[in-house]
Amino acid sequence: MVSIKNLSFKFNKKFIIEDFSLEIKDFEFISILGSSGCGKTTLLKLISGLLKPYGGHIEKGNLSRIGYIFQDDRLIPWKTVYGNLRLINDDKESIKTVLEEVGLIEHISKYPGELSGGMIKRVSIARAILYKFDMLLLDEPFGSLDVLTREKIISVISNLWKKKKRTFVMVTHDPFEAASLSTRVLIVSKKFKNVRCLEINKDDNIQNKKFIISERLMNELKEMN
Ligand SMILES: Nc1ncnc2c1ncn2[C@@H]1O[C@H](COP(=O)(O)OP(=O)(O)OP(=O)(O)O)[C@@H](O)[C@H]1O
Ligand SMILES: [Mg+2]
Repeated sequence: MVSIKNLSFKFNKKFIIEDFSLEIKDFEFISILGSSGCGKTTLLKLISGLLKPYGGHIEKGNLSRIGYIFQDDRLIPWKTVYGNLRLINDDKESIKTVLEEVGLIEHISKYPGELSGGMIKRVSIARAILYKFDMLLLDEPFGSLDVLTREKIISVISNLWKKKKRTFVMVTHDPFEAASLSTRVLIVSKKFKNVRCLEINKDDNIQNKKFIISERLMNELKEMN
């Protein structure tokens, strides 16, 4: 379990997160929806340990290995796709299988500079899949993917969550993605001062219900901002 208690964080004396608390149960898939600049990436960085809280604390129990799909993809420019992935897991067959899964096998020898934004995103997703994580943080993982690739990668992530039985925390701007993947969605306002929470039932996991839920999330977002 992850326990976030009275968390606050400042950049340049300005509060970005103020007195935010949340408990994340093991194997939950939580999505966070909120307006641009409200502090979502900052929260993921705090959970990962890349940033330290100004106040309060985050307890991660036995979840020590954190996978992270960054909002800005952090590939090493002078290594090929294969070279980037080998840093995480040096089993060639596993790398090839994951690249097949994300539809990039024919680009295995290319450098990040030779790839499109959507391809780079998929390499980042492949890298996260190859890492043996206890918890996966996903920061807008489907940004810059075309609609068909997005659908495919959503199902890759959904299957990964079901297979690995780990805790996932995803930031997204898309209520439909949130409704499709999550067990719980948080709708947050600036500084995380107001947080609304929507539990998503397994039974809700059918297509037309997803639309109804995403509509509801959209309305909540409008009310909050
Ligand atoms: N390194 C930094 N130094 C100073 N301010 C920062 C830094 N990083 C982020 N901020 C500020 O913190 C606030 C929250 O940023 P954050 O990246 O967490 O937002 P976000 O909710 O992820 O937005 P988006 O949806 O656009 O990605 C913003 O006002 C941003 O300008
Ligand atoms: Mg962000």
